[in-house]
Amino acid sequence: MKNSAIYPGSFDPLTNGHLDILERAAKMFEKVYVTVAVNNKKTAVFSGDERVSLIEEAIQDKEWKNKIEIEQFTGLLIDYARKKKVNILLRGVRQISDFEYEFRMALTNRRLAPEIDTLFLMPDEQLTFISATIVKEVAAWGGDLSSFVPKHVAKALRKKYA
Ligand code: PNS
Repeated sequence: MKNSAIYPGSFDPLTNGHLDILERAAKMFEKVYVTVAVNNKKTAVFSGDERVSLIEEAIQDKEWKNKIEIEQFTGLLIDYARKKKVNILLRGVRQISDFEYEFRMALTNRRLAPEIDTLFLMPDEQLTFISATIVKEVAAWGGDLSSFVPKHVAKALRKKYA
């Protein structure tokens, strides 16, 4: 589909950084498929359904919410993209340390599917240190999550780590 993009990730859970990227993407594209990777090598704290619900709740009051479609996927991202007939993958890059992994992933995807390109977006600079991994660590030790994730995500995290 023209003027659409896929924003893939583990989203375990959604952070304010993801939300920032999603908002930027929604301004650029008519349709953004948020694809929640399940069954990849990472062990997730939240189930696929839980991760989708947390994203749904985070965007429910946004004026751009109708541009967003959230789905779970397993397997290769390029297969999913081809099925959707979308040839742009969006990834957020926060800092140089993200770049090596992202570069490898983008070039692997390009080798597998030359018609698909990866577009990198930068989040607001205030959010560049936030990652789902760090957020889970803060949650595990009972820290204040209010500046890292939306309220309902913080609540879900506190429940997981209670
Ligand atoms: O949020 P993450 O964990 O950094 O997202 C990584 C993700 C899900 C985008 C990546 O692991 C992925 O695309 N997995 C699907 C399998 C695949 O297509 N691998 C080939 C690209 S290296």
